[in-house]
This record gives sequence, structure tokens and C-alpha cells, in this order.
Amino acid sequence: MAGEPAASVNVETGAGLKIPRHLGVIMDGNGRWAKLRGKRRTEGHVEGVKALRGLVEHCINYGVGYLTVFSFSSENWSRPPDEISFIFNLLRRFVASDLQRLIRNNVRVRIIGSRQDLDPSLVRLIEDVEAKTHANTGLTLVVAFNYGSKTEIVAAARHLAREVAAGRLDPEAIDEKRLGDALYTAGMPDPDVIIRTSGEQRLSNFLLWQAAYAEFVFVDEHWPDFDEASFIRVLESYSQRDRRFGGIGATAS
Ligand code: IPE
Ligand code: IPE
Ligand code: MG
Repeated sequence: MAGEPAASVNVETGAGLKIPRHLGVIMDGNGRWAKLRGKRRTEGHVEGVKALRGLVEHCINYGVGYLTVFSFSSENWSRPPDEISFIFNLLRRFVASDLQRLIRNNVRVRIIGSRQDLDPSLVRLIEDVEAKTHANTGLTLVVAFNYGSKTEIVAAARHLAREVAAGRLDPEAIDEKRLGDALYTAGMPDPDVIIRTSGEQRLSNFLLWQAAYAEFVFVDEHWPDFDEASFIRVLESYSQRDRRFGGIGATAS
């Protein structure tokens, strides 16, 4: 098998685990979780928020720097209107119930995605959350809401094209850094790990550019079942990866 454990792993204490600087999560399977229990899909989304609350806590405790969670995709508009409005209300409810705790825990919140199709009151709420947590220096919680990576890249291309057309930017000066700085995730490190729950093995338009060198961890559990033990299993898996970035790696002889 390629790669050796980066360090000895003590599952009880978490000691020896390699901690990603940036963790991305595609929180999938809320609907299936609910269906398995004879509940409505929306109840799965409610349980999903509980799992998210837990994950934020684990990320704080284990020293993850950035946590980006996919909570509504630009493609999710194709769902039934009732489910869409439920998810939108859930974001409002999450802010109402959790903002004070996030502030107390020194969490900085960023919401990435297109704000164009959002209700102005929701845009104000998002701006308020970002402003109220802006000065926090602990975990950065990035909520990808109405997010699609292709749209993000198109918006960045359009922004750079405008700069060129206005004579403010030389096309030759466009490099990876410049393009990265035009994305919603400007200023953030790329994700080291991307988790997807519920057994699906695809990105579904999540962080396409940023995931260039991410380690993928696919787990079978549905998102509402993802708990601290699941989190530690992901860290264990990540700790054993040999990240080569095109080189020959630590284990090459
Ligand atoms: C993920 O769970 C949450 C959102 C996409 C909003 P799903 O709602 O996709 O659940 P499944 O995949 O249908 O089980
Ligand atoms: C991806 O899940 C989006 C979120 C988790 C918010 P989906 O359930 O929408 O993805 P597909 O449709 O199965 O690819
Ligand atoms: Mg899904």
C-alpha cells in the first residue's frame, strides 16, 4: 500500500492524527436518512443541522482551521419548492439558534455562493453574520449556500475580463494566484480533505478549482449519522495518505 502513517494514531485521544488545515464536506444523504426511518425528507435536513453543529465543535477541538460545508447547490433549485423553502428557512433558523454560540467560540463565518437569486432579507442576514464574526480568529466556518463551482469560475473569468477591458489588467498577469483571488474562496487555503457522505463518489460542482490536490474520503453513512467517531475515522484515513503533489513523496526509496 502506498503511504505510511504520518504518525502513530491514538483514536481515544486523537493524538498523532494529522489535522487538515482546511476540511471540505459534502453533507449528503439527509433525504435517504429520513426515508429509511419513514420520515419526511425535511426531517433529515433538520437532523443534518445537528450533525453540522457537532462537526463545528469537533473542528474547534481538533484545531481544523477552515471548515467548508456544502449546504445548498446551484443545482438544488431543481428540487420541489417546498423542500427548497424549508432549506432556506433552516439557514435562517441556524443563524438564530447558533450565531451567539459561534461568536462565543471565536468562529468566523463566511457564506460563499451566488447572492443574486436570494431574497434581499436573506442577503442582509448573511452580511450581518459575516460582519458580526469578522474579527474572530478561531475556526473559519464557510457555508457554501447557493454555491456552484462552475458559476464561481465563470464569475471570476468575467471579473478578470472586465479588468482587462478597462485597461487595468494585462492578460499576461493572469496566473493561478490571480484567478484564485477572484474566486469566492479568496484568501483561504485549498481544502486538504473533502469528505462526502452517503456513498456517492462525485463532487457535484463543489470546489472544483480548489480541490486540485484534495484528498477525498467517501463514507457510506448518511450525513445525519456523521458523528465524532466518523470524524476521527476520516482523520485517520487522511493521516495515512502520502500527499505527493506531483513529486515522488515521503515513502519513495
Ligand atoms: C444533502 O442531502 C442536503 C442537500 C443537498 C440540501 P440530500 O437532500 O441530497 O439527501 P439525499 O441525497 O436525497 O439522500
Ligand atoms: C450535493 O448534494 C449538494 C449538497 C450536499 C448541498 P446533491 O444531493 O445535490 O448532489 P447530487 O444531485 O446527488 O449529485
Ligand atoms: Mg443528495
